[in-house]
Amino acid sequence: MAAEQGLSLVDLDRDGVDTAFREDVLQGLSEPQKAIPARWFYDDEGSELFEEITRLPEYYPTRAETEILTDRCDEFRTMIGGGRAVVEFGSGSSVKTPLLLNCIDPAAYVPLDIAGDFLRSSADALSAKFPGLPVYPVEADFVRKVELPIEVTAMPKLGFFPGSTIGNMVARTAVDLLRTMRATLGEGSQLLIGMDLVKDQAILEAAYDDAAGVTARFNLNLAHRINRELNGTIPIDALRHVARWNDAYSRIEMHLEALRPIEFGVSGHRFSMGEGDTIHTENSHKFSRRSGTTLLLAGGWTPRQRWTDREERFSLILADATVPRSAP
Ligand code: AVI
Repeated sequence: MAAEQGLSLVDLDRDGVDTAFREDVLQGLSEPQKAIPARWFYDDEGSELFEEITRLPEYYPTRAETEILTDRCDEFRTMIGGGRAVVEFGSGSSVKTPLLLNCIDPAAYVPLDIAGDFLRSSADALSAKFPGLPVYPVEADFVRKVELPIEVTAMPKLGFFPGSTIGNMVARTAVDLLRTMRATLGEGSQLLIGMDLVKDQAILEAAYDDAAGVTARFNLNLAHRINRELNGTIPIDALRHVARWNDAYSRIEMHLEALRPIEFGVSGHRFSMGEGDTIHTENSHKFSRRSGTTLLLAGGWTPRQRWTDREERFSLILADATVPRSAP
């Protein structure tokens, strides 16, 4: 079932500039530790580079999660059961979705994504694979509560949030998002969420700094994007990609580091960086069993079952919307 053509959620000014992108970049470059939210990686070029990352030998999360989805199909069928509306948050190209849908006999599929064209084409591709399944794509920014299509209101829901995208948020934002998901899905819903696990530092750093340099291109594309879309003059050759493990915060951080002192303009504003200064571009938090559980509980979800791949690199957790109660 094809989606209705909707209005774009992106706010463009008279020059066609994405105003939220410009605000985030100007604000982030003005901070003492320069930082730009990771969501701005994903223009067309960045989305293609990310797809390439998922196929790299060093980038294990996609393969590990796919292994769990394949190996545990029977358990998903038993624990989730049929008849649910599967609501996928940030569905993107929906590559892992068929694996899940094949296991659980869903009543409907609702992909949510901010990128409308991409959403509609992947929804159409999925409809072709599952001819009897009603598909209701919703163009929405799922960090805010989403009104789901009326057709699925009465159905029990399963939220699906694979890929460990939750790890790209700091704890406070992650908790806010989990609570919003609970509000979107409602009482009695379930959530199947991917969380990448803490492991050997060398394996983690290699996953975010691959030998072929694809992740470096992904990171540097953000500077190219600023130059392209915000009239920037960042000297790209003076920046290098850095991926480093921050043990205190249990996360891989990606930065763009200045190799020499530089000055540049963005949308008419001037910025400078000293040699060794960085722009912090991404956090990718890694979880233990306990930290994953704590995060879910804080977000209003009670974990019911947890699966890992055979090498225990990645986890998928099935959680129930917590029923609020006042007792300790
Ligand atoms: C989308 N997200 C879960 C990826 C991650 O692993 O944090 C983004 C990524 N950044 C560099 N490589 C992959």
